[in-house]
Parts: sequence; C-alpha cells; structure tokens
Amino acid sequence: MSLVNTDAPPELLVVQDFSLRFRGAPSDQINHVSFSVSAGKTLCIVGESGCGKSVTSLAMMGLLPVGAAQINSGQMLFEGQTLNLADPKAMRKIRGSRMTMIFQEPMSSLNPVFRIGDQIVEAVKAHCDATDAQARDRAVAMLQRVGIPAPEKRMRDYPHQLSGGMRQRVMIAMALVNDPALLIADEPTTALDVTIQAQILELIRDLQAETGMGTIMITHDLGVVAEIADTVAVMYAGTVVETGPAERIFNDPQHPYTIGLMSSIPQLTGARGRLSTVPGMVPTAQNMPTGCRFATRCPFARPVCATEPPLVEAGDGHQVACHFAPLEIKLKESA
Ligand SMILES: Nc1ncnc2c1ncn2[C@@H]1O[C@H](COP(=O)(O)OP(=O)(O)O)[C@@H](O)[C@H]1O
Ligand code: SF4
Ligand SMILES: [Mg+2]
Repeated sequence: MSLVNTDAPPELLVVQDFSLRFRGAPSDQINHVSFSVSAGKTLCIVGESGCGKSVTSLAMMGLLPVGAAQINSGQMLFEGQTLNLADPKAMRKIRGSRMTMIFQEPMSSLNPVFRIGDQIVEAVKAHCDATDAQARDRAVAMLQRVGIPAPEKRMRDYPHQLSGGMRQRVMIAMALVNDPALLIADEPTTALDVTIQAQILELIRDLQAETGMGTIMITHDLGVVAEIADTVAVMYAGTVVETGPAERIFNDPQHPYTIGLMSSIPQLTGARGRLSTVPGMVPTAQNMPTGCRFATRCPFARPVCATEPPLVEAGDGHQVACHFAPLEIKLKESA
C-alpha cells in the first residue's frame, strides 16, 4: 500500500525550516517556519503587524537587503527545484517570471518617471525575446484583463495619473504578464477603500482561476482570509503557530492566538488609535520570550510553556504549536 496521498494536488511550493536573524538581534526574527501551497490554490499567511510575514516573503523572492540578515536555515522547493533560502541569487533567477510579488504600495513596484505601458513592456522583454510589437500587444491585453478601461490610451499614462485602485491593477498586470506559477501578494488591498479592496480580491481570484497559478496572500485581515483562503498559516512572532485547511482553522481554531484573533472585537487602543485585537504587543527580537513566543499574552500560559511547543498534527493537515492543544481537553486535564 502506498503511503503517498495521490488525491492531494501536487505542491507547487514548499518552504521548510526557514530561520532568519537580523544583524545584531539577540534572537531569530523568523523561527523554523514551514508552509506549502498547491497550484491553483491560495495560502493565506495571517498575523498581526511585526509577525514576520513580509520578511518571509521577501526572503523567498531574494529581495532582503544584502547583508541585513543572516539566514540560519531554510530551503524552498519550487516547481521541482530545491533552492537554498540563504542564496538570494538563486531566488532572483525565478523572480519576475515563474514567481512574482505584489505589495501594499504599488509605487514600490512602479517607477514614477516612466509610462506604465513602457514598464510592462520592459517586464515582458526582461524574461523572453518578444519583439517590441509583441511585448506591446501583450501589455495591452494584460491591462485589459485586469480591467483597465481604454488600455491602449492608458499605456501612455504615468503612475501618478491613475487612482490607487487602478495603480494596483497595473501592478497586478505587471506581475502576471509573464504568466507566473506563483503570485505572492503582501497586503495588496490594505491601503484601499473597502469597495476597491473587494474588487481587487475578486480580480486576483478570477485571474487565478484562469491561469491556475498558486497564490500566497499575506494579510492581517481575517475577513480577507475568509474570502479567499484554501489553506491558512497563522504566524506569531516569526513562528507558524497554526496551519491547515481554511475551514478547519475557522471552525475549530486550536491555538490561543488564533482563537484570540477570531473572537476579539477590534478596539481602539494607544495614543495613535491603533487597532488591536489581542491585548498586548507582539514581542520583538529584543524581548522575545524563551519557549512559547505567545506566552506573554496567553491567558492559558503554564510553567511548561517555557519550553517551545512543537507543531503537531491535529488531523486532516491541521497542525498546532501549543502544549495544550486541543485546548478544551488538555486544559481540563491540567486543571
Ligand atoms: N531591515 C530590518 N532590520 C531589522 N529588523 C527588521 C527589518 N525588517 C523587519 N524587521 C523585524 O522583523 C520582524 C518581522 O517584520 P515584518 O516581516 O515586516 O512583519 P509583518 O510583515 O508581519 O508585519 C519585526 O520584528 C521587524 O521589526
Ligand atoms: S504553549 Fe502555553 S503559552 Fe503557548 S499558546 Fe499554548 S498555552 Fe499559551
Ligand atoms: Mg508586512
């Protein structure tokens, strides 16, 4: 009997045991992170600000500032190729073609001094030997596909001539023009108003259905996760604390952090009126607790939590890193 589950779709990307420490930091900001995504599916990486979502995705793209961080472990299996996360050169080779990324702020991808048409044409030509005319046709078709009206005319616009939502569409066009196998979207709708946010999510979902690409959606917004995730990885302080199929995470969350994120009502706290969902702050490398990184905010913390809880299987690919998962049973036993 084969132990391989042949019904499961093949994984497009597997990240294994990724750990990273910024220079001079006393502890690792990213701590043994693993996750995977299948072709045509969406993995949502969710967690509060400062949990390591962006750092993880930038490392996967080979985009971390050179010399800023030491990658202590980690490999990435992408389309059958194993890449060492400590070797950004290897990641750069696939960046922009097989694997692309979009950001919260489109201006970080778009150059303000060039026409958007020329920028998309350049993106095409950087990865294949299309003629100018072919690259142009592809750029116009792509702008049309992302819902830009009068794309021929818009090709001549500079980024500042477009609204925020339209700029985001142009960035998506540029990211998808080379038909990538994987799109990483880092909070792409956070800066947009709610209506435009919904339109952009729908656009990403439609393009994904059309092309079969895998998507990693990075967000701090559980509403976005509920909308589009097939699978979820909940990150806290640089660690994946819970992961699994989206319906399992929503219907039966097991980690106290996930439960807190889901049950708490956003409240305005602090001088700047920041939205906070779970009381307390994400620790930084300077004040990282030993053992479970959530212990300083966890209502269930016990002495055993001074040792790091491993990520263990809770059934159907649902995994949890808490000494007391499943909570309802284990807490009763320990009472
Ligand atoms: N260039 C950097 N130098 C030092 N620390 C950094 C740098 N970039 C990010 N960090 C730290 O790494 C942690 C994770 O940050 P980040 O990935 O941006 O979080 P998220 O995207 O989840 O909001 C934070 O503690 C942040 O302060
Ligand atoms: S291991 Fe302990 S501190 Fe960490 S989440 Fe579980 S109960 Fe809370
Ligand atoms: Mg971020």
